[in-house]
Amino acid sequence: MEVSRDALLTDSAVNDRNSTKDIMADEHVPKPRDYHFHLDPKNARNWHTAGIHVSIFFHAMSLFFPEGEKMFMHAVRLHKKQIPDSNVLLKNQVTGFICQEMYHSREHRVYNESITKIWKIIPKLEAIVAWICTNISKYVPRRTQLAITVALEHWTAILAQIIIGDQRVFANTEPNFHLLWKWHALEETEHKAVAFDVWTTVYGTGFLAYVHRCLILILATTVFWTLVWGFFIAIIIEDGSWKNLVEYGKLLSFQWISPGVFRQVTPIYLDWFIKYHFHPWDHNNRDKLGEMAALSKIINQIS
Ligand SMILES: [Fe+2]
Ligand SMILES: [Fe+2]
Repeated sequence: MEVSRDALLTDSAVNDRNSTKDIMADEHVPKPRDYHFHLDPKNARNWHTAGIHVSIFFHAMSLFFPEGEKMFMHAVRLHKKQIPDSNVLLKNQVTGFICQEMYHSREHRVYNESITKIWKIIPKLEAIVAWICTNISKYVPRRTQLAITVALEHWTAILAQIIIGDQRVFANTEPNFHLLWKWHALEETEHKAVAFDVWTTVYGTGFLAYVHRCLILILATTVFWTLVWGFFIAIIIEDGSWKNLVEYGKLLSFQWISPGVFRQVTPIYLDWFIKYHFHPWDHNNRDKLGEMAALSKIINQIS
């Protein structure tokens, strides 16, 4: 399905902040948006203008979402009963969080099926994620399950912050892949504090909770990015693009120089450790949520 790139990138509506006022309210409940996307496998190798390796690196991350977000929903659900009945807002936010993650999980499953048409290894890599997530949900103590969720939600929130905050990240990319990633990034931003607020409501903000969330973020960071890079390498080997040295340079430049996603993400990642009383909304990018109205309009046009 064709989407106008101009409409996506420069439509004045994209900068429309009309709905920001409502979103600024602290009582905001994440709103699930049941969207479908039209990803053409023919674009999978080159959907990103920064090259094949950048295109594939995003695919490597996508492999984690169907099962990973199922694991997040499970961990948060396990704690829902411990939220006091008087905290109706957080209970509603949890419902919104679960619905949003359910749609993300579903759309990334479709995404991953689509790229399986190009690389046969995709289902095998997804099976590794499924094995890990299933075993975490089955055998890991529920407190640690929630700590893993808040740690990985920190990663999705800070990556989303760069994605929606720096227009260079998706400049001139294929519009359907762009729409999906931007929708996901905006909703990750919208619900970025929900799992964290469940964590502090149930386990508090004391020293033990701080140490636990810090240790789990170190562990989650190590395991997650080791796997992402491993999956990326497995895909480029099947693809044959592992021989292309220029593409490695373009990927490293994208990650560390311009736009430098990892360079930009590093200081906000570290706030988790530096700030004893860290809260996800310390990184206040609520104003960006106003872009959802315009994005929704475009997605509805193509659905
Ligand atoms: Fe998500
Ligand atoms: Fe999330």
